Amino acid sequence: MQLTWLGHSCVLLTGTKKVLIDPFVEGGSVAGTQPDIVAVTHGHYDHIGEAVTLKKPTVAITELAKYLRAKGVPSESMGIGGTIRVDGVAFTMTHALHSSSVDECGTVIPLGPAAGFVIEMDGARVYHAGDTGLFSDMKLIGDLYHPDVAFLPIGGRYTMGIEEAMIAANFVGAKTIVPIHYNTFDRIAADPELFKRSIERTTDMKVCILQPGGSIDLGA
Ligand code: NI
Ligand code: MN
Repeated sequence: MQLTWLGHSCVLLTGTKKVLIDPFVEGGSVAGTQPDIVAVTHGHYDHIGEAVTLKKPTVAITELAKYLRAKGVPSESMGIGGTIRVDGVAFTMTHALHSSSVDECGTVIPLGPAAGFVIEMDGARVYHAGDTGLFSDMKLIGDLYHPDVAFLPIGGRYTMGIEEAMIAANFVGAKTIVPIHYNTFDRIAADPELFKRSIERTTDMKVCILQPGGSIDLGA
């Protein structure tokens, strides 16, 4: 499986199927990725992104899935702790410590809890934390699902910053950590090199800093 970070929180998994997580890129479009399945962690605009125009089978928490269905998106609803299979790809929804809503004509519509995903495809597992603060049950995510790679937000303000994400990485225990949700905007400025140095000095984990559009290969 190939994992491509398209920027911000947007990750494309390419294996037997193409799975696009949080289809938003700042100042661009994800339409060219042609995903088979979309997964959306929560309703904030920088995560729901182009989910409505892509109109692909979309995995989301019940409230967000209902919202997307009303917009004509064929959505698969699920809840935290559950696992579903879509086209042979397994999606487990995990807890996230964050909010979820969408702004429509000045009205804020709440869309249920925010979430993360553990996605298994072609025998490899990827944890995408979504937007979240640090929570100690990330240990359970590590113990239960043993993800090979974890995508963790490090930008602060709306999510964990570097200090918290270092603890998160230790809780999850994936071999490879990829920092996300930083430097898209000034308000989430963070130095991924500091994150990398701090983790690699104190653990056996590898931090892979990607440029938008950059990929890592998980092998077969
Ligand atoms: Ni958010
Ligand atoms: Mn966000």
